[in-house]
Amino acid sequence: MTVYLDGAYLPRAQALVPVDDRGFLFGDGVYEVTRALDGRLFEWERHLRRLARGLDGLGIVLPEGGRLEAGQLLEVSERLLEENELGTGDATVYLQITRGVAERRHHFPPPGTAPTVFLSASRLAMPDELRARGAAAVTTADLRWERCDLKTINLLPNVLAKQQAVAAGAFEAILVRDGIVTEGASSNVLAVIGGGLTTHPATHRILAGITREVVLELAAELGLRVTLDPIPLNALSRASEVMVTATTADVMPVVKVDGRAIGDGQPGPVARRLHAALRARMQRAGKRAAAGASGP
Ligand code: PDD
Repeated sequence: MTVYLDGAYLPRAQALVPVDDRGFLFGDGVYEVTRALDGRLFEWERHLRRLARGLDGLGIVLPEGGRLEAGQLLEVSERLLEENELGTGDATVYLQITRGVAERRHHFPPPGTAPTVFLSASRLAMPDELRARGAAAVTTADLRWERCDLKTINLLPNVLAKQQAVAAGAFEAILVRDGIVTEGASSNVLAVIGGGLTTHPATHRILAGITREVVLELAAELGLRVTLDPIPLNALSRASEVMVTATTADVMPVVKVDGRAIGDGQPGPVARRLHAALRARMQRAGKRAAAGASGP
């Protein structure tokens, strides 16, 4: 597998980062996971905007006019898809930028320290069998900081929460803070309550998922009533449907939370329609991009 590290395309095993990288020492960096279908990135501009917000939020400055311009990141992503034979089917591109390599001290290194830039592309195995059955989730305390809107590589609370889910045989951990469902360990949580679709508003308490954003747009297009309201944990038992969204899972119906069935315990019609609409949008976007690339 070929990956990209700081300007070079390398076999994955040869892509090595110095131990003084601030990503390794402090978790000082941001990342993105972008979906690709048939070699085309889905909603790339939104991912790029979120990345730029994250870099801004952390004060990581990219070298001016350097190799990190948006167009170049796109070019690198598409080249990795092609070189790794991911030009057809579902794949993801992982992108990580850290504050770079510097002597270990907490405050920022001197201006001009080059950020470390890493990208890789991988096949995405769609969890379609689980989607048909519906997934289980467990709830756990949201132990994260107050800037969950930044997609930083500091994922320890998410790692611990996800491990709790996996140990319980569940697909996802639903994070709860002050009695409110915030999001999943690596996904957003949406619920159908009283016939309308609702999810936590995009505040500092959640990561505003790209899939969440697109799914909310699709829901409105399908004529569903959409609200952005914090969901109290005790309202989940009244939900007719619960689902999680993420780049790596699309729309995944959650049919069981902490061992208790949601609705009738089967994937519901809203999740099914939203997943189909998302898939259709991805395919349309891919075709448009292909036509644009080879068209007049
Ligand atoms: N995570 N919330 C959290 C905490 C996440 O980590 C993710 C995605 C999402 C969904 O965002 P999006 O729809 O943009 O993928 C929400 C990625 C997939 C990961 O860490 O692998």
